Amino acid sequence: KVIYLKDYTVPSFLIESTELRFELFEEETIVHAELKVKRNPACEKSAASLELFGHEELELIELTIDGAALDEKSVQREGELLILSSLPETFVLKSSTRIHPETNTALEGLYKSDGMFCTQCEAEGFRRITFFPDRPDVMSVFRTTVEADKKRYPVLLSNGNPVKTGENAEGRHWVTWEDPFPKPAYLFALVAGDLKCIEDSFTTMSGREVKLVIYAEEKDLDKLDYAMLSLQKSMKWDEEVYGREYDLDIYMIVAVDFFNMGAMENKGLNIFNTSCVLANPKTTTDASFQRVEGVVAHEYFHNWSGNRVTCRDWFQLSLKEGFTVFRDAEFSADMNSRTVKRVEDVSLLRTAQFAEDAGPMAHPIRPDSFIEISNFYTMTVYEKGAEVVRMIHTLLGPELFRKGSDLYFERHDGQAVTTEDFVQAMEDASGKDLGQFRAWYHQAGTPELHITDEFDGQKEEYRLTVRQTCPATPGQDKKTPFQIPLSVGLLDQEGNELRLTNGEYSEVLEVTEAEQTFVFKGINAKPVPSLLRGFSAPVKLHYAYQRDELMFLMANDTDGFSRWDAAQKLGVDIMQELIGGYSVDRPMALDSRLIAAYRAVLEADGLDKAMVSKVLTLPSQAYLSELSEVIDVDAIHNVREFIRKKLAFELEPLFLKRYQENNLEVDYSPDADSIARRSLKNLCLSYLVATQKTEYLQLAKEQYAQSDNMTDMQSALALVAHSDDKVAGAELLDDFYAQWKDESLVVNLWLSIQAADPSEGALARVESLMHHPAFDAKNPNKLRSLISVFCAQNPVNFHAKDGSGYQFLADRIIELNAQNPQIASRMLTPLTRWKKYAADRQVLMRAQLERIHQCDDLSKDVFEVVSKSLV
Ligand code: ARG
Ligand code: ZN
Repeated sequence: KVIYLKDYTVPSFLIESTELRFELFEEETIVHAELKVKRNPACEKSAASLELFGHEELELIELTIDGAALDEKSVQREGELLILSSLPETFVLKSSTRIHPETNTALEGLYKSDGMFCTQCEAEGFRRITFFPDRPDVMSVFRTTVEADKKRYPVLLSNGNPVKTGENAEGRHWVTWEDPFPKPAYLFALVAGDLKCIEDSFTTMSGREVKLVIYAEEKDLDKLDYAMLSLQKSMKWDEEVYGREYDLDIYMIVAVDFFNMGAMENKGLNIFNTSCVLANPKTTTDASFQRVEGVVAHEYFHNWSGNRVTCRDWFQLSLKEGFTVFRDAEFSADMNSRTVKRVEDVSLLRTAQFAEDAGPMAHPIRPDSFIEISNFYTMTVYEKGAEVVRMIHTLLGPELFRKGSDLYFERHDGQAVTTEDFVQAMEDASGKDLGQFRAWYHQAGTPELHITDEFDGQKEEYRLTVRQTCPATPGQDKKTPFQIPLSVGLLDQEGNELRLTNGEYSEVLEVTEAEQTFVFKGINAKPVPSLLRGFSAPVKLHYAYQRDELMFLMANDTDGFSRWDAAQKLGVDIMQELIGGYSVDRPMALDSRLIAAYRAVLEADGLDKAMVSKVLTLPSQAYLSELSEVIDVDAIHNVREFIRKKLAFELEPLFLKRYQENNLEVDYSPDADSIARRSLKNLCLSYLVATQKTEYLQLAKEQYAQSDNMTDMQSALALVAHSDDKVAGAELLDDFYAQWKDESLVVNLWLSIQAADPSEGALARVESLMHHPAFDAKNPNKLRSLISVFCAQNPVNFHAKDGSGYQFLADRIIELNAQNPQIASRMLTPLTRWKKYAADRQVLMRAQLERIHQCDDLSKDVFEVVSKSLV
């Protein structure tokens, strides 16, 4: 069944308060709910019935209204709806329900992770717990009592503050929690388990002391400090940058091993995937340290952008997610290197999000229909949504943007609102007309800018002509022009920046027409344009740069992001030419300009090391695939490997020099400079190993053996494991597993390295790892580390010509469909992109999609993706 935004109606009843009592047992859980209900004065239908949602598996034991059972005529159960009619204006609704968290493998609602109870209610998980108007515009205060066996579950948590505790007979105990802030049910949380914690505090700007507690299993207690520090930094940053203060007396985070996503912002009680909260130098890579910092911040920022001001309905998801991703990206930029953060985010957007926009599931950041909302927690809603907020920030400037966010929070505190309310607040506070800008919210697809230029020596004028187009997407053939902030600079032949119309060196042009010309006066020689600085809009840019001009920009552009982007464009241009002419037995030749450009970067002193390693990383297979009309998997892989090897041989002494001078024996620290140093060092090592000289394989083995941190260890391990020396690889992999078999997250790295090994026979290796004790098909982190890494990061093997990779993935989806629909549907993505491949692969991929489509009992999640992909 398709749900449409246009069908939205206000709720017929409101819930003033919700009192819950959970009796947790090993074989069942009983949920008692007491709701104070009143008719919604804003609802026009005065006799409307009350719609409660309750998953089909819920067993309703008892239901009363004001203490009396309902007569049969006024209760109707249809699928997941429980409809009550002939109701008074106000009443108390009591229910008791039996559920089975102990067998819940979908990891939605209440479930067990490694012996502890926990919840995931966003988006529609609360209806798997009890009967409730489970929609975000119904907000209620919650009082929750959790009762369980004291020995097994000494810690009992829910939202808000603990107000009462006690003990029952038979070794059971209970705790009552009260959350004074009205919230939608999707922000409800409960945890019960044998947990240990670390505690600290934060004093808010108004001087209130907030207790901060992070819970995990005892064995992980030594991995919580970084998350605590990140939380404190986030709280401070949100006060300084947005004027937002925390509102409860306690803030808790719980780490759980079984989790479908990264983390969840439940009011006062965040629940995190262990992969996004645990961090320790010995077991955690730099990338994961930064992810922990970013996700802790993201969930904390939701307290305002998501919880205090929430979504009216799930079509508005980007209201909280796009804005919060923008907020966490700015936080990470402030804590670390701004340019590096931008490069990473843009790389992700241009590969994964652009691919989504070009695929069968393309949707605007505010979709207008869905079958299963879980399928819309996407790169588009999150990352493109953040880019749309960033564009508002660019168009308004920081001061007016802050005025806009202040107005938004003040106007809508305690409300469930729409993306339109957000844009309206920005417009009202700034006076800037965002009328045309709203198209970004309802039009899908990646706009393309085609830019040509003209220099007129006579008039001393330089003209940029910008034409915009946007490809058709499902259900949207025609698009109206977008309002696009296009940040530009102009460089003269000496590499100096020219002053532009606004008197500055950079200017934001506002592109609003299908075609438009911008004139720069007083220009006396043809400049080189630096276009889309800082990636000022989520668009594809086409401008016919000469390779020499790209090298010139790499050397002279003052915008760090644009220097990197020029290097990417140069790499893409050279690689695309080789890919186009690729044939197994035709020798390839590398344009020496790429070698010269890389040499210049390696030789220069004093450059930001993180940026150097970004610039020296060739465009990824995923990015080249996205840019391809028809993806030639093997050509892309082989061309990229050929160039890597060629660069490695040509620049060997420089890579070695940079490796050695950055291979310092210092204590590990996850600060930006140290991370930059390690990333440059490990990049150099990867080029050295690419020469296939034994001395460098030896160097990698030494680094593996000597490193005191997981970043250096896993980089070295991956290089050896993926090298041609499979004996050495196997030896190190065995050693690594023996050393880390008790650290689940480290074992995930071990699985991923093997899944990503491009050498022949990867599928058989992955299949055998599925029977290894390290693997657990019920744990999403294991599935992602092994199965998804193979399907998304090992293209040569996944796209094997015999279709074995496709069949393997379809088998996994069919198994997972019943067990965990959300994960099944997400893992399906690689198959949905079949239209981008040549005919032989298209046929094989489609056949597997058809096979899935024909299965009985497809979940809504898988059904939606599979059926839309087959159109
Ligand atoms: N709101 C969470 C976050 O972005 C994500 C939860 C998504 N859960 C889901 N089942 N789709 O921080
Ligand atoms: Zn979020």
